[in-house]
Amino acid sequence: MDTKIKSWFFLYVLLPLLFFSKSHLSTTAEILSLSQVLSGDQTISSKGGIFELGFFTPGNSKNYYIGIRYKQFPEYVVWVANRETPLSNKTSSVLRVNQDGNLVRLNQLNRMVWSTTTPLIASNSTTAELLDTRNLVLRDGSNSSIVISQSFDYPTDTWLPKGQLGRNKITGERQRLTSWKNLEDPAPGVFSLELDPSGINQFDLMWNRSKIYGQSGVWKRQYFSLIPGMAADQPNKMSLVETQNKTYATYKFLDNTSMTRGVMDPLGQIQLCTLLLSSQTWSCFWSMPTSRCEIYSYCSSFAICTQPQSTLASCSCLHGFEPGSQKDWNSSIWLAGCKWRTPLQCGGNTFVDAEKDGFFVMCNVQLPGNQRSLTTVRSAKECELYCFDNCSCTAYAYDSSCSVWNGDLINLKQMLDGNVGGDLYPCLAAIDLRVPLSEKTKGWVHWVIVGVGGCCASVFSVVILFIWICRRR
Ligand SMILES: *[C@@H]1O[C@H](CO)[C@@H](O)[C@H](O)[C@H]1NC(C)=O
Ligand SMILES: *[C@@H]1O[C@H](CO)[C@@H](O)[C@H](O)[C@H]1NC(C)=O
Ligand SMILES: *[C@@H]1O[C@H](CO)[C@@H](O)[C@H](O)[C@H]1NC(C)=O
Ligand SMILES: *[C@@H]1O[C@H](CO)[C@@H](O)[C@H](O)[C@H]1NC(C)=O
Ligand SMILES: *[C@@H]1O[C@H](CO)[C@@H](O)[C@H](O)[C@H]1NC(C)=O
Ligand SMILES: *[C@@H]1O[C@H](CO)[C@@H](O)[C@H](O)[C@H]1NC(C)=O
Ligand SMILES: *[C@@H]1O[C@H](CO)[C@@H](O)[C@H](O)[C@H]1NC(C)=O
Ligand SMILES: *[C@@H]1O[C@H](CO)[C@@H](O)[C@H](O)[C@H]1NC(C)=O
Repeated sequence: MDTKIKSWFFLYVLLPLLFFSKSHLSTTAEILSLSQVLSGDQTISSKGGIFELGFFTPGNSKNYYIGIRYKQFPEYVVWVANRETPLSNKTSSVLRVNQDGNLVRLNQLNRMVWSTTTPLIASNSTTAELLDTRNLVLRDGSNSSIVISQSFDYPTDTWLPKGQLGRNKITGERQRLTSWKNLEDPAPGVFSLELDPSGINQFDLMWNRSKIYGQSGVWKRQYFSLIPGMAADQPNKMSLVETQNKTYATYKFLDNTSMTRGVMDPLGQIQLCTLLLSSQTWSCFWSMPTSRCEIYSYCSSFAICTQPQSTLASCSCLHGFEPGSQKDWNSSIWLAGCKWRTPLQCGGNTFVDAEKDGFFVMCNVQLPGNQRSLTTVRSAKECELYCFDNCSCTAYAYDSSCSVWNGDLINLKQMLDGNVGGDLYPCLAAIDLRVPLSEKTKGWVHWVIVGVGGCCASVFSVVILFIWICRRR
């Protein structure tokens, strides 16, 4: 009789091959049993041939991962077993199902890549089977209706129909979708989607598991209230399930002429996209946030997100700043952010050309959120002086009260006409204050700023600039 024990079951990789005698799969199989191993280009397929499990290499990466992907579209990987433990050689690595309570006595050459901890039923005939839902299930071979463990319980960045995303009410444990670091590295990135920790039935988009930058809105019987397009999304039927111990969301896809997938992408946006089998094209039903400008730290530091209403948001360095990596910036990779073109004088004893740092005005922007409010400061000039005197201050804003920013400025967004933003004054070296804002303002900026020396005088120039640029709207 089977005994219920708390045990560990593993899928793991053995290095190198020489050390074991198990038989290799001869051809592509559907089920991997205890006595078989998977290596090199071998795969297991789901019965309907939709998914396959095997070793893969993303993009130009040199690393190998064990993952599940669409058989027809191998570039779309939907699950990765060893996100953080890549392998360097697929021919000398193998995958097998292991049943072993003795983790501590693993041979040093054995490298575990995926493990589950569930109260299990011990059996010497465990098998791994890949289902057409992409779920990889470990079953008790003597009774296949007993599922020991399944990959659906461990989502990576992709949410497929029937997959669950939720929280365990008893342990508080949450399943999250976590982005890849980048397109070539499936290691967990900074973006994730998970149920709100407070117990409200709403999903949060999180940056670094700490900053919420998007919310689905609460569950309204058939959809989440703030996801545009979800209510009208006919083929995808979302549901929220409450059981005694768990709350989870799952969805069905009611169209057998196409396939669907939800992905938390490496840039921080989640999209639900459908592949039309007849034309082999993907189209997306909804995304969150709708504009990439809403993504936390999307442009990184000292850059502003433009086109906030377009799905193709892009970033520009603030005036007087240049990209941290011009090469990345040219390929729309904003991670490195921007840096001062000319280092600030602040803190130095000598001033170049006896000119001091000053402030530049940016009109109608959504201000960064991490400001410090100085309640005792009563005027714009005092606010500027405070920022000028404090070398860790990088910008200030004054709108009946004084706000100052220390360190990196992130989450800046250009507001469009009609949206009321604020005016922000980043600190720049004197030389960069002279550079014209744009072709349009060239003549003006020059005569306003030339000849200005010292920071107090720059208050004057800033005021004039402010009047010219901000009032013309
Ligand atoms: C991978 O391992 C195989 C078998 O051990 C070996 O022949 C091959 O040279 C290795 N490849 C690399 C790139 O190390
Ligand atoms: C599994 O264990 C049972 C009883 O312990 C034994 O009869 C059977 O042969 C074993 N099967 C395998 C595949 O080792
Ligand atoms: C297999 O397991 C299920 C669920 O635990 C049980 O209902 C069923 O009777 C078992 N079948 C056999 C043949 O043991
Ligand atoms: C994310 O948060 C951790 C602490 O929870 C912190 O150590 C780490 O620096 C943060 N990452 C980034 C990119 O800020
Ligand atoms: C819920 O958890 C309790 C305690 O862990 C357990 O006894 C019970 O069987 C679970 N219920 C379900 C439906 O899984
Ligand atoms: C799709 O579903 C329809 C209606 O349920 C059915 O008639 C048809 O055979 C299905 N097609 C495929 C390819 O499964
Ligand atoms: C980036 O693009 C600009 C203009 O498009 C070009 O002048 C520059 O050489 C590029 N820099 C790099 C490093 O690719
Ligand atoms: C400068 O700002 C930092 C951070 O806000 C603050 O801790 C520090 O006391 C300030 N220094 C002065 C001289 O005001």
